[in-house]
Formats: sequence, C-alpha cells, structure tokens
Amino acid sequence: MYRKSYALVNKNILEENIREIKKKYPNYEYYMGVVKNNAYHHGIEVIDSLIKGGINYLAVSSLEEALDIRAINKDIPVLILEPIPIIYIDIVLKNNITLTVESLSYTKELVSKENLKKLKVHLKLDTGMNRLGFKRVDELQEAYILLKDKVFIEGIYTHFATSGRGDIFYKKQLDKLKEFLDSIDVLKIPIRHFDRSITMVSHEKIKESNGVRLGIIMYGFSQSVKVNTEGIKNKLRLWKRKMYIKNGFMMEYTTINDLNLKPAYSLYSTILAVRPVSKDEFVGYNASFKVLEDGYIASIAIGYADGVTKDFKKVVIDGKKLDIVSDSMDMIMVFSKNKLEVGSKVEIIGENRTIREVTRDIKINSYHLFNQISKRVPIIYEEDENEK
Ligand SMILES: Cc1ncc(COP(=O)(O)O)c(C=O)c1O
Repeated sequence: MYRKSYALVNKNILEENIREIKKKYPNYEYYMGVVKNNAYHHGIEVIDSLIKGGINYLAVSSLEEALDIRAINKDIPVLILEPIPIIYIDIVLKNNITLTVESLSYTKELVSKENLKKLKVHLKLDTGMNRLGFKRVDELQEAYILLKDKVFIEGIYTHFATSGRGDIFYKKQLDKLKEFLDSIDVLKIPIRHFDRSITMVSHEKIKESNGVRLGIIMYGFSQSVKVNTEGIKNKLRLWKRKMYIKNGFMMEYTTINDLNLKPAYSLYSTILAVRPVSKDEFVGYNASFKVLEDGYIASIAIGYADGVTKDFKKVVIDGKKLDIVSDSMDMIMVFSKNKLEVGSKVEIIGENRTIREVTRDIKINSYHLFNQISKRVPIIYEEDENEK
C-alpha cells in the first residue's frame, strides 16, 4: 500500500458482536447478515468472522454481490434482496443463490421457465414501504399457488419502513403483515424474517418469525438511545405516546438495550506535507480559510474522492483534535498551532474520533457515512496490519 490512507477493520470485534447479539436475542433460528455494499464498507472478507460468530444466512442487493460471496464461500446461503432479471436464473441456480420474488408479474414470468425445482425463493411483502413486495393479499395468494409446486418457497419477509419507536405507522405495517401471513399457510415456509436491526431491538419478537436480518447492528451500532424526558415538551410527547399505545394506535417499544457492541471500523491517513503559515494568510481553493493566528498547515492524503470532506470537521493527530480547514479531491488540510511531522498518522474515524461524533458533525447517519467512504480507500484487516 503506497498512499497510506486506509480503513482498518477488526474482524474479531465483528465476531464478538454477533455472539453478543445472539446471546441477548436467542430466539431465532436464522440470523441473516446483511452484507450489501461490501458489507457496509467493511469488506466482503468479513463474512468469515460473521459466520464464525453465528450468522447462518447472508443477504445482498445484487447478483454481482452474491457472486462476490460465492467467490470466497461456496456454502453459506445467500439471498438477493432485489428482484433480478429472469434471464439470469441459470446463474442463480448454478451458484445456489436465493431469489426474491416480489410481485405477481415477476412470479408469472418466473414460472414460465422450466427446471426450477431447486430454485430457492423468498417472497417479499410490502407492508407499507411502497418500495418492493407484494402489495395485495390476493396477489400473494395467487403467486403462492403458482410457485409452490414449481420452486422451493424457502422464505418470506418484509422490510419495515419505520422503527415503531413512537410512530403510529409501524402498527399499521404489523397489521398489514398479519393480513398477509393469515392468508397463506405461512408456517409451512421454513424461514420467516421480518425484522431488521432497529425493529428487533425495539419490539417483542414477531410470533411467526424465526429469522431476523441484521445489518447495522452487526457492525457495532446497538440502536440503544436514551430518550430525553426532561422538560414539559418531552413529557407531553411521552404522555401522548403512552395514550396512543393504551388505545391501540401504537405498539409498545423500547429505545434502550444492554447490547455490548463495538464498531469494528476505523479510518486513517497520513500527513503528506507541513508548512508554516502566518496570521491573515489564506489556505485552499478559493482562499476559503483565513489564518487567524500563526501556526502550521498539514496536508493529509485523503479527500472528497475518498469520501472525506471538510464536513468531518476534525481529525486526531498525536492525540490532539485539529480542525479541518480546507478540502479538495485528494487532500484535506488541517491547522495546528504546533509543528506537525510529515508521515504522522491521522485518525479520521477511530477511538478518539468516534463514528458517533463524526455522524453528529456531518448530520448523517452511520449507514450514509459508511456509504460515503469510497471504494478507493483500501480496507486492511487488523490481523494483517503489518503488511500495510
Ligand atoms: C431489505 C433489507 N433488510 C435488512 C436490511 C438491514 O437493515 P439494518 O442495517 O437497519 O439492520 C436492509 C438494509 O438496508 C434492507 O434493505
């Protein structure tokens, strides 16, 4: 690695996170690890650790991603969460990949093909997101009849649009789910997975479910937050929610859990150059930063092409938090009153500059943050760190 900007991922932490989740939420048979977008940018190689921790199914968004998994693991079941063009069914079959069937028209197209007995499909239900999935009960019933002797209906799932932490929409989704589940012989379908990370930790287990799809929680985000109960406005809001729950408009929910999870991801770069600057000099494109006192500018080998911008606000060098004062495609610049050394390590995300702090400063959530870091940033695994 020449450029020395890299993401560092600790696979052992991921494995421990899964063990902890399974210990605290033991009542599922299928723990599906959602590893789309290169395992939320942790690198697809982490699947070994997820499996060691207890993940027994994986989920991705495209056939490409499923084949990336097959290149390194021939056995773990893999579900594609989106429909894929029927012309690729042979590749799906050949690689033992599980297909999502999400509409009646897709079902009809699928069943017109021959030799599908070995094809594993999961039916996707639209309980209110209006993104993918059967929208009407009669369409699900018709599809179920068409499919049941033609393919292996291995699973059924939905994806909730809201978390149900204080919203009335979640209850409507549960009601819709129940309508779907009551309309077919659902317990004959071996894998029933309805929750994602936040809905799993916020509510009682859904009775019919025996699987859960774990995404962000595996990567160390427990979704535990303390609700502010201070002040009249918050008290009023909580009282209103209690009334909604009492009157059956809202589901019971919890926002706090005792999951002991850790993020496994950190991001580092290196100082490329250091120069002294005097008060009233300007720094960066458009002379956008005016130096307020004498000091040093360090140029760091990571920029917006890597997904790191001035909005990250601070980095940590030699244990000190320093302000990012300018950004460009390949570099960010920081100001320091004290001299810095070329080659010094720069922590962009890590123990001293946590993801929570960065997401708060950028005003995005951790999903978007991981997504924002570009593929150009190589991923190094902690056990291989010496090779970097
Ligand atoms: C269909 C589906 N299931 C599960 C997940 C995982 O969600 P989370 O990371 O919130 O657990 C996603 C992520 O976007 C998804 O699209």
